[in-house]
Amino acid sequence: MTTTIEVHQDKQKIYDILFDEQMECFAEHFQTLGFQNRKLCIVTDSNIEPHHAENVRTFFEPLTEYVCVFTMPAGENHKTVETVCALYQFLIEHHFDRHDCLAAFGGGVVGDLTGFAAATYLRGIDFIQIPTSLLAMVDSSVGGKTGVDFDAYKNMVGAFKMPKAVYINTAFLETLPEIQYFNGMAEVIKYGAILDLSFYEFLLTHMAEVLAHDPEIITQMVIRCCELKCRVVEEDPLEHGLRAILNFGHTVGHAIEKQKEFQLLHGQCVALGMVCAAYLSWKRGMIEQEEYLELRDVLVAFRLPITVDGISKEEILTLMKSDKKMDANTLKFILLRAIGDAYVDQTVTDEEILEAIEVVLYQEGEIDKEMGESAKA
Ligand SMILES: NC(=O)c1ccc[n+]([C@@H]2O[C@H](COP(=O)([O-])OP(=O)(O)OC[C@H]3O[C@@H](n4cnc5c(N)ncnc54)[C@H](O)[C@@H]3O)[C@@H](O)[C@H]2O)c1
Ligand SMILES: [Zn+2]
Repeated sequence: MTTTIEVHQDKQKIYDILFDEQMECFAEHFQTLGFQNRKLCIVTDSNIEPHHAENVRTFFEPLTEYVCVFTMPAGENHKTVETVCALYQFLIEHHFDRHDCLAAFGGGVVGDLTGFAAATYLRGIDFIQIPTSLLAMVDSSVGGKTGVDFDAYKNMVGAFKMPKAVYINTAFLETLPEIQYFNGMAEVIKYGAILDLSFYEFLLTHMAEVLAHDPEIITQMVIRCCELKCRVVEEDPLEHGLRAILNFGHTVGHAIEKQKEFQLLHGQCVALGMVCAAYLSWKRGMIEQEEYLELRDVLVAFRLPITVDGISKEEILTLMKSDKKMDANTLKFILLRAIGDAYVDQTVTDEEILEAIEVVLYQEGEIDKEMGESAKA
C-alpha cells in the first residue's frame, strides 16, 4: 500500500513524499504533476545506472513525451560544478526548456547535484527525487537543500529548491552495498536519539529485521525518518533554528571527516560524533550512563565505529571552530536532554569537547578498530 506524507511550508502543501515497493504505484501521482507533454531527464550515476536505469526509463516513457538518461560518474568527487556544466550541456543538446523536468535518481550526490541543476538551469525548472541510497531516502531527498562541492569545500555552492515530488521505493536498496546501508543507519539512529524515543526503541526491538533488510520494517523505518525530518524542516525551512538539531553528531563528525580526509564515510564520522555528544549529555547529568552505553551498543550493532585512530583531538577542535556553521564564533553543540529530546547548546567549553573526543580515540586492545579500517577500503 502506498503511504503519502504531505510536506508543507507556511501552512501550504508544497509536495508529497510517496512510499511504495513498486515504481508502478507512483504513476498515478506523477500524472497529476502535469508532465504528459514534457521532457524528462533521469539523472543517475554510473553505479546505479546498470542496475535500475532501464526500468525507471521504461516506467516514465508512457507518462511523458520524451525521456533521456544522464549518467554522471559515481562518487562525491564528481559532485562538482563541472558535472553540473556537463548536465546543462546535455539538457541544451536535448532541447530542454523551462517546462521540462529532471528526476534525481540516485544517492545524495545525485540528488544534491540534480536539485542544484534544476534550481539554476533556465533560472529554475521542476525536478523530482527518486532516492536509491538509505541516506538519500531518510535525509538528503527531504528538505530542499541542494548543491555541489567546490575545491575542498563540501556543499559550498547551492540553493534551496523543493522537488515536485519524492518517490521512495525501498526495493532499490537491494543493490546498495552493505557499507552504504550502515552509513545511512547512522542518520536513522540520529532521528531516534534527537526526536523520538519510541522510534529509538523501535530500532532496538527490530534490530534483527533491520540487519536482515526486512522490507516491511525498512519501509516503516524510512517513513518514520521522513516524518521526523519533515516536521523539523517545516518548522524551520531555512535553517534559522530548530533544524540545527539535525546536526547531532555532526559538529565533531564533520571535523573527523575532514581530518581523515574523507577516508571514512559520513555516517561513520557521525556515529563517532554522536558518541561524543551522548557522552557530554551523560557527563552533564542529562542522560543516564546506561543510555549513553546503549547508544554506543546500537551503533556497534549497525556496524558503525565508536572509536577511531589517527586523529588529534586538538586538531578536531580547531576544525570544529573553522566549520562554516559557526555562528558569531560560538560553537553550536547538539546535546540530549533525554533520549529523543535534543537541544542546541552554546555553552560547551573547549575542555569538555577535548574530553569527549578522548572517548572516541582508539585505545590499544579495543575491538572496534577493524571497523574504521575496513571503511577505508
Ligand atoms: N541535501 C541534504 O539535505 C543532504 C543531507 C545529507 C547528505 N547530503 C549529501 O548526500 C551525499 C551523500 O549521499 P549518499 O550517501 O547517498 O552518497 P552517494 O550518492 O555517493 O551514494 C553512495 C554510493 O552508493 C551508490 N548507490 C546509491 N544507491 C545505490 C543503489 N540502489 N544500488 C547500488 N549502488 C547505489 C552510489 O553510486 C555511491 O557509490 C553527500 O554529498 C552529502 O553532502 C545532502
Ligand atoms: Zn549527515
